[in-house]
Amino acid sequence: MDIFESQGKIQALTDELKEHNYNYYVKAQPTISDFDFDAKLQELHKLEQQFPQFAHDDSPTKRVGGAVSKEFRTVTHRYPMLSLGNTYSREDLLGFDTRIRKSIDDKFEYVCELKYDGLAIGLSYKKGKLVQAVTRGDGVQGDDVTDNVRTIRSIPLSLRGDDYPDDFEIRGEIIMTRSGFVKFNEKREKDGVQAFANPRNAAAGSIKMQNSAEVAKRPLDCYLYYVLGETLPHQSHYDNMMAAKDWGFKVPKYIAKASSIDEIFDFIDYWDVARNDLDFEIDGIVIKVNEYAQQQQLGFTAKSPRWAISYKFKTEQALTELLEITYQVGRTGAITPVANLEPVALAGTTVKRASLHNADIIEELDLHEHDYVKVEKGGEIIPKIVGVDLERRKAGSTKVKYIENCPECGTKLVRDEGKANHYCPNEYHCPPQIKGKIEHFVSRKALNIAGGEATVNALFEKGLVKDVADLFDLTREQILQLEGFKDKSADNLLKSIEASKSTPFEKVLFALGIRYVGQTVAAKLAEYFGSMDKLMQANEMELVMVDEIGERITESLLEYFADESNLDIVNRLVASGLKFEIEKDKDQGPDMLQGKSFVVSGKFSMARDDLKKMISKFGGKNVSAISAKTDFVLAGDAMGPAKLKKAEKLGIPIIGEDDFMKMVK
Ligand code: IVH
Repeated sequence: MDIFESQGKIQALTDELKEHNYNYYVKAQPTISDFDFDAKLQELHKLEQQFPQFAHDDSPTKRVGGAVSKEFRTVTHRYPMLSLGNTYSREDLLGFDTRIRKSIDDKFEYVCELKYDGLAIGLSYKKGKLVQAVTRGDGVQGDDVTDNVRTIRSIPLSLRGDDYPDDFEIRGEIIMTRSGFVKFNEKREKDGVQAFANPRNAAAGSIKMQNSAEVAKRPLDCYLYYVLGETLPHQSHYDNMMAAKDWGFKVPKYIAKASSIDEIFDFIDYWDVARNDLDFEIDGIVIKVNEYAQQQQLGFTAKSPRWAISYKFKTEQALTELLEITYQVGRTGAITPVANLEPVALAGTTVKRASLHNADIIEELDLHEHDYVKVEKGGEIIPKIVGVDLERRKAGSTKVKYIENCPECGTKLVRDEGKANHYCPNEYHCPPQIKGKIEHFVSRKALNIAGGEATVNALFEKGLVKDVADLFDLTREQILQLEGFKDKSADNLLKSIEASKSTPFEKVLFALGIRYVGQTVAAKLAEYFGSMDKLMQANEMELVMVDEIGERITESLLEYFADESNLDIVNRLVASGLKFEIEKDKDQGPDMLQGKSFVVSGKFSMARDDLKKMISKFGGKNVSAISAKTDFVLAGDAMGPAKLKKAEKLGIPIIGEDDFMKMVK
C-alpha cells in the first residue's frame, strides 16, 4: 500500500470504527460482530504504527488507554458543580411545586429524569473535540481525569454532525452497569483482590486509578443529563438534551416532560418499581424546570438550584430472624460469611440470605445467635444486614463466634494484616480451591478447553477429575456419564483436550494457577528460563534476578515446587504431552552457551534484560554476583569499578557486547 492509500485507509477505518463504537456503546445496536470489529481495529492499529503521522487523536485504537498519572491535576470548574436539594417525602415535592408556581406566572413544564447512582463528571468540548473531563471534587475544583475518561467507549471523543456549539460543557454520571459489576467483581475475587461493595464504589474507584490502561478494562459507562454553555442551540433543557443525543452523547431515554405534580408522582411510582429491572442503579428521580428563562428567574441558593430537586427512593427494610451463619469458601480460598435468615418479603422478592462480607462486619453489628436483624436492599445486589433489634435479643444468647478452621478442608484459617477476609491457606488441596484451579486451567486465556466452568463442575462433582492432570486421562465413556453429553459433544471435548496439548509453554505455566503468576509473569518466566526444568531448578537468587519478579512471586514459586503433589501434577502433565518448553527457533543452535554462567553489568545498546534473555535462550545461566565459578562477565558502559576489580582479581574473562554477539551468532 502506498503512502496515500494508507492515509485514506486510516481515515476510512477510523470513521467506520467510530461509527461502530457509537452503534454499540451509545445506541446499543451493533451492526458488526465483535470478531470483525476486532479484526478491523487491529488492521487500523497496524497501519497507525506504520504511519503514525496519519493517526487521528480520536482514533478508536486510543480507547485502550496507556497514560499514567501520579497525581491528578486540580482544575477549577468553569461553572461550579452544584448539588441538588433532595427529599424522601412527597409533601416536600408538593411544597417545591407550590413555590415554583408562586414564582412563575407563565405556563411551565418540568422534566423528570432518573437519578443515576455513580459519580458526577463534567466533560468540556471545544470545536467538537473532548478536551477535558473533571470530577466534581468540592464543586468548585475537581480532578482532571481526562486520560481515564477517554477510555470510556460511550463518551464521544469527537462529536457527530456539525451543529454543536464551539465551546460547551456537558455533565453526566459515570456508572458501572449491574451486569458489568457482577462479572468484574467475580474476576476480582478470582484474582484474590477485594471485591467492591457496589457498582457506584466500583465506578468511583475505577475513575481514580492512575493507569488509564487499567481503567479501559473496567466496564464503565456514562449517562449525560445537563448541558452548559453560552451558545447552546435551544432555550430549554429538554431540547438541548435531545440535541446532545444527536451529537453522539448517551442521553438515556428515561426522560419525560411533566406539567403537573400528579404526572411527577406517576413517573416516581413507575420507576420505584421498574428500577429493579434496570441494568444500572438509580437512587431516585430528578425533577427540573425545563425553560432556561424560568430557571434563571428561580435562581440558586448557595448550594443548589431552586429550579430542580431530587426525590430519593427509600431503601426498604425488613426485620427477620437470623437462623444460622454459614461460611463459603471461594475459589481463591477467601471466606465469606453468609447469614441464613427466616424468609421475609422485601422490595418484591423473598429474602433468605444476606452477605455479611467479613469478620469485621459481624463484629461491628455485634451479632448474637438468633438475633432479629434489619435487612436492607439498597444499592447492593445481595441484601445486607444493617442493624440488630436489641429489644428482641433473647437473654443469655451467645455472641457469634467466627470460625477458625476452613469448613471445607479443616485447615486453620489465616487473615493477613490489613486484609478484610479470612483465607484458607490450603491452596492446592482444599476442594473449592482445587475446583477453582481446574476452572482456571481450562479457561480461555489458559488452555482454552471447551465447556469451561460448567463442564469442570460436572466432572468435579462426579469425581472424574480431581486435579488438572486428570483431564488428560478422561475417556469417552466417562464423559458420556455427564448429563447432557452425547457422542458428538463428548468427541468435541476430547478433541479440545487433545488440541490443548499444543498450547505454548507460557500459557501452560499461567494455567497452573501458581499464586501471583498471572499472564505477564508467566510469559516473563517462560521467556527467561525457557523450560519448566530450568524454572524448577532456579533458586531464590536466580528468580529474584528476573525483571519484575519480586520476593512475593519468588516465594510463591518456591512454595509451589516444594509441594510433592504439585510436582506430581506437573510430571503427569509432561507425560500427557503438554508443552513445558518454549519453542526454539530451528535455525539457531540453542545450546551454544550451555553450562556457562554470566554476570551482566553496566549499560548496553540494548536493554540489559534482553541480553539476559538471550543468555538463557542459548542455554547459559545468569548469576548476579561474581564468584570463582563465573565463566564470563559481560561488561557494558559504566560498569561498577568494584565488580570490574573483582573479575580481574579472579581472572574471569571480561567481554563486551560485541564479543557476546559473536559468541551467539
Ligand atoms: S442535574 C444543577 N440530573 O446527582 C443540577 N444530576 O445531588 C445538576 N445526578 O451531582 C445536576 N442523575 O451527580 C442531575 N439526572 C440527573 C442526575 C444527577 C444523577 C447526580 C449528580 C449530581 C447529584 C446531585
